[in-house]
Amino acid sequence: MDKLKIIGGQPLCGEVVISGAKNAALPILCAGLLSAQPLHLSNMPDLQDIRTMETLLQKMGMRIERDADNYTLDGAHIASPEASYELVKTMRAAILVLGPLLARFGQARVSLPGGCAIGARPVDQHIRGLQAMGADIVIEHGYILAKASRLKGARIVADMITVTGTENLLMAAVLADGETILENAAREPEVIDLARLLVKMGAHISGIGTDTLVIQGVDQLHGAHHKVMADRIEAGTFLCAVAAAGGDVLLRQCRPDTLDAVLDKLREAGLEIEVGVDWLRARMHGRARAVSLRTSEYPAFPTDMQAQFMALASVAIGSARVTETIFENRFMHVQELNRLGADIVVEGNTALVQGVAMLSGATVMATDLRASASLVIAGLCAEGATVIERIYHLDRGYDCIEKKLSALGAQIARIT
Ligand code: EPZ
Repeated sequence: MDKLKIIGGQPLCGEVVISGAKNAALPILCAGLLSAQPLHLSNMPDLQDIRTMETLLQKMGMRIERDADNYTLDGAHIASPEASYELVKTMRAAILVLGPLLARFGQARVSLPGGCAIGARPVDQHIRGLQAMGADIVIEHGYILAKASRLKGARIVADMITVTGTENLLMAAVLADGETILENAAREPEVIDLARLLVKMGAHISGIGTDTLVIQGVDQLHGAHHKVMADRIEAGTFLCAVAAAGGDVLLRQCRPDTLDAVLDKLREAGLEIEVGVDWLRARMHGRARAVSLRTSEYPAFPTDMQAQFMALASVAIGSARVTETIFENRFMHVQELNRLGADIVVEGNTALVQGVAMLSGATVMATDLRASASLVIAGLCAEGATVIERIYHLDRGYDCIEKKLSALGAQIARIT
């Protein structure tokens, strides 16, 4: 298994291009199941999760052509509306095929995603919403077996805000008979990006960007061209890295308008940030100040930035309280950061971080995607060498992070 070796202490200087957003690209790939006409996508990120989703869709009969970050999806020959356990267990987002398969083909057999490192992550809201739209759903032998002659529009109030739950039901509703109202819907930018693609395909959706989506179902959707939005979490990760390691970095092809809560916290920590339409310039001189935070649904501080921010707090001046409200077990990075000399104590869903002047390099283990990113940030500002094991977690969601960081002057290399 690959590892990353980082020699800390180098500030980051130069330019980095932010890739397309993983959490927009994944539902957008599934939207290719909704039409027999081709989807032309650009700015697709080169990630393990994207390759896994491609494999899953190709097994169903989707034809996919790739040319760098340009994809053409041909959904005219879907033969088997199935998502096997072998693939779903490696990527929970595979659940996103359920809504589109039911909407267009009236049937689906999708493995229940198991739990994952950060939490149980059930899919009851996805199932409950599809049942409200008339789907007949049975769960047996670990699979969701769903049938519907034609989904019917319904008013669905989610018990909690769920990103992929909103996306699954949105993709089901666009071809349903009649009007669907999704209340307590997720407002994440990735949900908006999916909705914008669906509208380009001929869907009738109003309330995009709000917590109430109203969809008038249509009989069929046509093809479209779409550029996937920039990854706000990748951008936030690089900003945290500059705040922790110091330096002066220009982020290109990013979406500052999707990062307000993160930019506020980083400015509070002392990072100087200049904002353009599609670029950000971050400068850091000296040590960051500790800043407390509480994760919540968009537009509040994103849970996917919590681990990265904790790495920054580990070397900041003062102490910070980091509260995680979305997932029940998203502090797996704490033990590993403490191995690097951090001083973090967890009490329930809050971590108390006492900043230290310098971390000390060690061998640590990645446990999940964003925890891996926090270990990279910590390694960049630790004294000596840090080796991060099990970086397949990192490769799921970051496009060549070690190449991008070494281009900024970091001493980082992949050990195969
Ligand atoms: C999406 O996961 C993202 N993944 C996650 O990013 C992100 O952390 C999360 O949203 C929150 O923003 C993708 O978009 C592919 P949820 P999702 O449904 O949709 C509970 C990353 O690092 N819940 O919004 O699975 C759930 O347990 C990943 O890129 C139910 O109880 O998250 C959680 O506590 C990690 N029942 C909360 O809601 C349901 O049916 C929010 O989960 C659905 C969710």
